[in-house]
Amino acid sequence: MSPLLDVRDLTIAFPQSRAGRALSSAQPAATVAPAAAVRGLSFSIEPGEVLGLVGESGSGKSITSLAIMGLLPPSAIVTGDIIFQNSVQSGDSVAMHLTTLPSHQLRQLRGSRIAMIFQEPMTALNPVMRVGEQIAEAVLAHNRVSKSEAWRRAVEGMRDVAIADPEERARSYPHQLSGGMRQRVMIAMAIVNRPQLLIADEPTTALDVTIQQQILDLLNDLRHKFGLAMLFISHDLAVVSHVADRVAVMYAGSLAELGAKADIFHAPGHPYTQGLLRAIPTLQTDRALPLSTIEGAVPPIAQLPPGCPFEPRCSHRIDACVVELPPLVEVGPEHWARCPVLNSARR
Ligand SMILES: Nc1ncnc2c1ncn2[C@@H]1O[C@H](COP(=O)(O)OP(=O)(O)O)[C@@H](O)[C@H]1O
Ligand code: SF4
Ligand SMILES: [Mg+2]
Repeated sequence: MSPLLDVRDLTIAFPQSRAGRALSSAQPAATVAPAAAVRGLSFSIEPGEVLGLVGESGSGKSITSLAIMGLLPPSAIVTGDIIFQNSVQSGDSVAMHLTTLPSHQLRQLRGSRIAMIFQEPMTALNPVMRVGEQIAEAVLAHNRVSKSEAWRRAVEGMRDVAIADPEERARSYPHQLSGGMRQRVMIAMAIVNRPQLLIADEPTTALDVTIQQQILDLLNDLRHKFGLAMLFISHDLAVVSHVADRVAVMYAGSLAELGAKADIFHAPGHPYTQGLLRAIPTLQTDRALPLSTIEGAVPPIAQLPPGCPFEPRCSHRIDACVVELPPLVEVGPEHWARCPVLNSARR
């Protein structure tokens, strides 16, 4: 069976100025070769599966999700394929190629078959409209139902995300709700049309730790209740571990490692993943000592080295690492890492 989402060799580039800064589409002059912010990225998501996408800020996670949603800025140059198996009424599915789909068809998919939630719900919610009406609007955008039926579904959606007294809360304005409650409203809006795929981009990053855990528990409940597949994006590997079945680690626009969560945590095959794991506090961590961090920073996309992008920060590097982008090496069943050095030493 085909996966629900199949991202194949995705590359996303942006035109650059001579100074190496990104240009908007309104500034076409004096450009040099576009710089790729995502390079040759491939992964898939099965129906009902949760794939965690992890990487430091600037590694290309959000633009990958925007490419899936068809929401990249017009200046982005996209190659590769993103195939979504859209299930139709007969129970069959139709393969849709999202990078080339006409915009009206993408609009139909967005908010119905594929939905997205972001880090800061306040930017996505209309401050002068009751939250129930905003969810009802999402219903009306994709279904031929009456306004009262849309309102009923909106209230039901708020109940699904465990908002107490949803009839009353549906009449609130966003500013009358807490951050955690607003994120629940966003999730209700995302799932009210029963999507097959939910993209969650740093959905808990702006929340404090207790609320964060509640939202992660809610997403776990919803995936089981509705058979929802998810692309769960976070810079925090510990957060991803609460929801993901498999984990994809991105570094400077390319995939560093991909595998089952247990393999990523117990047998990481890339020095970058190992560094991320060392940075997670455990019960044994001495709180008096600073947490381990990976020295250095992700290079800007216009200044990527020709070889392994992690080479400037890597303690395992050898001379060959600077020559070309290393290939992904199969380090176990369904487990790949882009580090031939570490993995030849292992064998
Ligand atoms: N609109 C844009 N124009 C030019 N470059 C962009 C744009 N959006 C993102 N980029 C580039 O893509 C890189 C990855 O961005 P992003 O996907 O937001 O990273 P992440 O979500 O992993 O923090 C950025 O560091 C930037 O170089
Ligand atoms: S390929 Fe070389 S530089 Fe890159 S992660 Fe492996 S050892 Fe480090
Ligand atoms: Mg981001």
